[in-house]
Amino acid sequence: MTIQETESQIVLTHPDNKNTTVTILKYGATVISWKLNGIEQLWLSDAAKLDGSRPVRGGIPLVFPVFGKNQNDELVKDLPQHGLARNSTWEFLGQVKSNPLTVQFGLNETIANPEMTALWKEKFNLILTVELGSDYLKTAIEVENSSNERDLKFNWLFHTYLKVPDIEDTMVSNLTGMKCFDSLIKESFVDKHPVVNFTKETDVIYQNIDPERVIQVVNQGKPIHTVKRINLPDTVVWNPWIEKSAGMADFEPKNGYLDMLCVEPGHVHEFVKLAPGEKWQATQILSKDALNYQAI
Ligand code: BG6
Repeated sequence: MTIQETESQIVLTHPDNKNTTVTILKYGATVISWKLNGIEQLWLSDAAKLDGSRPVRGGIPLVFPVFGKNQNDELVKDLPQHGLARNSTWEFLGQVKSNPLTVQFGLNETIANPEMTALWKEKFNLILTVELGSDYLKTAIEVENSSNERDLKFNWLFHTYLKVPDIEDTMVSNLTGMKCFDSLIKESFVDKHPVVNFTKETDVIYQNIDPERVIQVVNQGKPIHTVKRINLPDTVVWNPWIEKSAGMADFEPKNGYLDMLCVEPGHVHEFVKLAPGEKWQATQILSKDALNYQAI
């Protein structure tokens, strides 16, 4: 069986390799596991709630229509942090391709979490496409403004929690020279470091990254994750470190920050704006490519 559906989730198994799988919760259309040859690639908290009671701590939560908590924008200011997609149950639309194995999920204002749509009354149609390759996982989003009258403005972000062997021996490459905003010190600057490394809480939004820059996560000199972006100019790099992890009830084990790193491709620095009827598409591709330093 290449596609198994239960009430709460979908499991895809690669037709040529039963050890390569992806599991997607209908709640949030959240990818909660991606195994390549039996090895888990994503971090999922031991205390993550998978019952729809709160957004999943780990995997690939989907952020829409607002990144973070935006108090300054009239339209989105009432929405909770990271919006409504990660705390709504999506419709499973079924298989769209058998090779590579591809499925879709849909969300619009009529089925989204009513507590959230009461706070943001826009019309939208989201289609998430999940494609399981033999050596990659592709997640693609299409956002349609389904209103006849109003423009739609939104942020999008794939909040990807990558599993890493040891954060203190891990770095992120190919962001050198990019403008960024450090959310902890609330300052913008050009990151001149040859690589990003981790010795403390890190929460940085890299903005308008050259489209050809391929972000890689490197552990002890070996590339362990490659994150490719299509139409996603920004990327958040986040590790909560000790105190922030301690304060998150659904973050377990408490030293789990050592094993995870969020690299989150998105369109968050500015809103995407769509006229009535218009569509916007963007894609994240996770893989394990050879090391390719594009900038030091
Ligand atoms: C990141 C933000 O994207 O998400 C962080 O940059 C935030 O500031 C983190 O702490 C986790 O957010 P949440 O809502 O899942 O706890």
